[in-house]
Amino acid sequence: MGHQVAVPHDLSGIPDWINGTINNPSSLYEMGPAGATLESFMINWMLNKLGWFKGKDLSDFKRLNKNGSGILTHGGSIANMTALSSARAAISPKAWEEGNPEDLVVMGPSTAHYSILRALSIMGMGKKAFIPIPVDENEVIISSALEEVYVQIKKEGKRVMALVANACATSTGLFDPLEEMAAFCKKHRLWFHVDGAHGAVALLSNEHRQKVKGIEEADSVIWDAHKMLRVPALCTAVLYKKQEQMWDSFHQKGSYVFHENEVIGMDSMPFTIECTKSALGTKLFWSFAMEGQQAIVRFIENSFQQAKDLYNYLNSLEDFYCPYPPESNILCFQYKPNIIDDQHQLALRYELINSGEFYITSCIIQGKRYLRTVMMNPFTDIKDYEALSIAIAKYASANKIYGN
Ligand SMILES: Cc1ncc(COP(=O)(O)O)c(C=O)c1O
Repeated sequence: MGHQVAVPHDLSGIPDWINGTINNPSSLYEMGPAGATLESFMINWMLNKLGWFKGKDLSDFKRLNKNGSGILTHGGSIANMTALSSARAAISPKAWEEGNPEDLVVMGPSTAHYSILRALSIMGMGKKAFIPIPVDENEVIISSALEEVYVQIKKEGKRVMALVANACATSTGLFDPLEEMAAFCKKHRLWFHVDGAHGAVALLSNEHRQKVKGIEEADSVIWDAHKMLRVPALCTAVLYKKQEQMWDSFHQKGSYVFHENEVIGMDSMPFTIECTKSALGTKLFWSFAMEGQQAIVRFIENSFQQAKDLYNYLNSLEDFYCPYPPESNILCFQYKPNIIDDQHQLALRYELINSGEFYITSCIIQGKRYLRTVMMNPFTDIKDYEALSIAIAKYASANKIYGN
């Protein structure tokens, strides 16, 4: 219950084994037809969940203008950079040739995953190009603050390249108000990027879909399959509402690989940072082929429920404090927050890890240190929650500086 890494289906290693044996990379159809075809199929499936698929059926791979589009890539960090590169191409088509204009900024929550800032730095815009939006006590964006920040940005003569939302935040597992953020972007004609690396899966559940209401208004979404779709690392989708947004990401020509209008099948190479990429579509398809969509939805709903159960259990104990009810399968809490300071909350995590009994993580919310769990294992249940609370109390009392 430490990190956001899927417990994959028992047999989900098989596509990696096949890929490692036949070594057919999938960014060109001619190099890896199975991977490329299944990538296009699963991208269509994801687009369909967002309401962005306009083809005949999921095997319709024609790149229609009115259709959404997307690619698979090796992980959420590269995916965020790919989407931000597309956002830059939309506002500043010449940036690819001439470099960045000085006036571009990106708005987003201060809790945006670090890969967003890393991408801005790599893209040459610098960390300074990121303008944080005020957040509430649990670090969720306050949508009513967007307008004021925007007015200030305009006053300084800057242009907003994109607004980024967390769906959900890596630290807390809470969702930003996508609907309000989308309306704001529509009003000002701004690119709306939703980092759904962890939480885009809420789309698949009738019970949780309302948490991502508004995601369908985004221009780009990223979605990690290796987090909540039980696919072994790595496999991430970058999805665009409009086909042409993807075409503009990278303006490059390579006569040996980019066939322009003569593209055979479903080449994704012109749209990815990678040249060679593994058969990601095969892995993603395999998870669904093994279990079926309903089983994956049950896994997602169960893991969200596990976090709720842990929340209810810890809340019933006097010595534990959870700052918010969980919205996903990520939950943060403190042990005896009035007595145990930040440094020692963190020390508790290492005691647990070193003991070999539990593996949990930690994060800072509004300047305070919390212990953090991510419920990824379908077999975790109340016995584990009880054992976790007992272990924490044991390691806290074993050391006098914890105030026991
Ligand atoms: C919200 C969010 N975005 C992006 C990433 C980066 O994804 P990856 O680890 O696949 O590079 C993460 C990873 O935890 C995340 O939680």
